[in-house]
Amino acid sequence: MTTFTGLRDDVYRRPLVTALDRIDLAEGWTCVDVGAGGGEVSVALAEVVGASGRIFSVDNDPLARDEVAERAAKFAQVFAITQAGEELSLPMPVDLAFCRFLLLHVIDPARVLLKMASAIRPGGSLVAQEPITSAGRIDGSPFSYPEARHPDIGAFLPALVRSAGLEVIDAWAEAPAGAGPGLVASYVASLTGVDPGDDSIVLPPLVTVVARKPAN
Ligand SMILES: C[S@@+](CC[C@H](N)C(=O)[O-])C[C@H]1O[C@@H](n2cnc3c(N)ncnc32)[C@H](O)[C@@H]1O
Repeated sequence: MTTFTGLRDDVYRRPLVTALDRIDLAEGWTCVDVGAGGGEVSVALAEVVGASGRIFSVDNDPLARDEVAERAAKFAQVFAITQAGEELSLPMPVDLAFCRFLLLHVIDPARVLLKMASAIRPGGSLVAQEPITSAGRIDGSPFSYPEARHPDIGAFLPALVRSAGLEVIDAWAEAPAGAGPGLVASYVASLTGVDPGDDSIVLPPLVTVVARKPAN
């Protein structure tokens, strides 16, 4: 089982670790994390690929670049790039293209997946993790996520990945749940600005798709 010390407090850590174990992420890999945000996942990947690997941490928000640079200061092999997923262009093919909570925000998710697929070397892997936002519940009521362009993109993810020319190896949905103080409640408070108190929470299920680019 892969160890990700940097992701100890990530509420969606479990499906991420399962996916990365499924592809046998290892030392020396070259990866791209598209829509990397502050770079939590990029840095966690860097811990595994080590000094002989390389992580391209891509986001269209230039502020993310500074955050990644700060977080990745001790990982020389993390390269923060300001670029839109729709225009993804890297100096070399990657062993793994990864995205999480990205496609719900982009205008054209199919185009971004096509770009990610073309960045992968033949035989390499893709891991995409996107939510079904409306299936989350707080005290029984559906989550509201008004700023997302495709709040339920997770429900379409396996077919989208296939349409990008990739072979789906595994796909599943997983949702953290809880009540009262803890990681799940803090996550909801950070998203909504409201403390859910002792309400029951089921976070939006995250659909994970693990796929491979055909060898030729
Ligand atoms: C919700 S954050 C996810 C961060 C990270 N992937 C995670 O799971 O913790 C979404 C990120 O996608 C970035 N983003 C949105 N649209 C994008 C696009 N078209 N191309 C690249 N990045 C984009 C945003 O700037 C933001 O940093």
